[in-house]
Amino acid sequence: YVIGVDLGTSAVKLLLVNQHGEVTQEVSKSYPLIQEKTGYSEQNPQDWIDQTVSGLSELLLQFKGNRADIEGISFSGQMHGLVLLDNHHEVLRNAILWNDTRTSAECQKIYDIVGEKRLLEITQNPALEGFTLPKLLWVKDHEPEIYEKAATFVLPKDYVRYKLTGKLHMEYSDAAGTLLLDIRDRSWSKEICDMLDLDPELCPPLVESTSEVGNITEDLAKITGLSPETRVFAGGADNACGAIGAGILEEGKTLCSIGTSGVVLSYEPSEDKDFNGKVHYFNHSAPEAYYTMGVTLAAGYSLTWFKEVFAKDESFDELLAEVGSTPVGSNGLLFTPYLVGERTPHADASIRSSFIGVDSSHERKDFVRAVLEGITFSLNESIHIFRQSGKTIDTIVSIGGGAKNEAWLQMQADIFNARIIRLDSEQGPGMGAAMIAAYGCDWFDSLQACAQAFLNEDKVYEPIEKNVAQYKKLFPIYQDIYKQTKELN
Ligand code: XUL
Repeated sequence: YVIGVDLGTSAVKLLLVNQHGEVTQEVSKSYPLIQEKTGYSEQNPQDWIDQTVSGLSELLLQFKGNRADIEGISFSGQMHGLVLLDNHHEVLRNAILWNDTRTSAECQKIYDIVGEKRLLEITQNPALEGFTLPKLLWVKDHEPEIYEKAATFVLPKDYVRYKLTGKLHMEYSDAAGTLLLDIRDRSWSKEICDMLDLDPELCPPLVESTSEVGNITEDLAKITGLSPETRVFAGGADNACGAIGAGILEEGKTLCSIGTSGVVLSYEPSEDKDFNGKVHYFNHSAPEAYYTMGVTLAAGYSLTWFKEVFAKDESFDELLAEVGSTPVGSNGLLFTPYLVGERTPHADASIRSSFIGVDSSHERKDFVRAVLEGITFSLNESIHIFRQSGKTIDTIVSIGGGAKNEAWLQMQADIFNARIIRLDSEQGPGMGAAMIAAYGCDWFDSLQACAQAFLNEDKVYEPIEKNVAQYKKLFPIYQDIYKQTKELN
């Protein structure tokens, strides 16, 4: 057996996986978000530790086999969050998370001092509020007494792994989301640190996602019931692990993952591609690979919002049941999913949503379908950027909430103009983490071989020509809505 731990934004999910890739036990433990002011989003790292340790203990209590049969464990985690540690590796303040948007001034400072061009050359990514470097600068500027005590920083799941092993590292796929990593050279950028007057010593030692970093400490073994021999592998960013868990491990493979936010992610075999910062470009957790990714901030969240406001007493299933019977194009209604701003392609924290083309004959089901189409159009903007760069996107694995509804899966095939694959049992990033541990424990020669053994296709949705043509006409109109509404706020 191996364990995959996914440290999410609302909960930690732990999977016990056997040699056939079957999840034999699953535990989920939640923790709160701390939102003291608008735009602030923090968590107490101790909550992650308490819930991970208690989740592991629960998993082990349910496990009827021999604990020595649990050979390895690895981690996936929410990206970009800043965990600041002092020289005893004690936490100095709450972690500032990926969805915290307080750092617009720091992003501007990075552009003013480093310059957009140089930043893109080194990190391949633009300065966005969600990334780690602006958060570090924010603490330096606003909480100098805390910054002075800082000896190092890590990302959320790296901190949890440190507490379980006593060994402190950061791995490349998460380091890539800090804006401090030279992603081609795979080293910390001393140049960026120097320009922004940050001590390069703050940056922790780097390891591969698949590296074995140690064992569970005796103390933690006693508390959780795990064997102290359990081998611990570094793991990866949740998007990288989600990609592994969906088999996105070779050129031509693309993933669409719709949760609260939505992601379209595509495998890249080399560091040479240049998307000019229009989409993210990060190191993969698979050895020597990269991925490019676009993010829609309010994907599933747009639907949750609609349900809360207009259909509070109904279930999602009831609401979505209407979608299949509404025609393509929602009878002329268009929606942009910018409820909390947008990341790709606009990187605009202040843009807001619109319904366009409302007619007195429209019924609620038109609005529901328009919301789904708007979310999918937004994800298609990322696919559009990938295609413009010369990438072929003809098959996409769809996971998350967006893969739970047949009409939505067909809509993805029609809007993306690509074959959509649904997997038979889909466990997201936790499975990717478990696969890193399985590969690390030498169950397989490669992550690809592990994916072949662990993952199965369930159903394929082919694009329907007539619908594709109709969506092709609507997409540029959808794209124009951004330009026409951006001065509204
Ligand atoms: C990616 C991002 C989110 C978090 C969610 O850039 O910010 O997808 O990783 O956990």
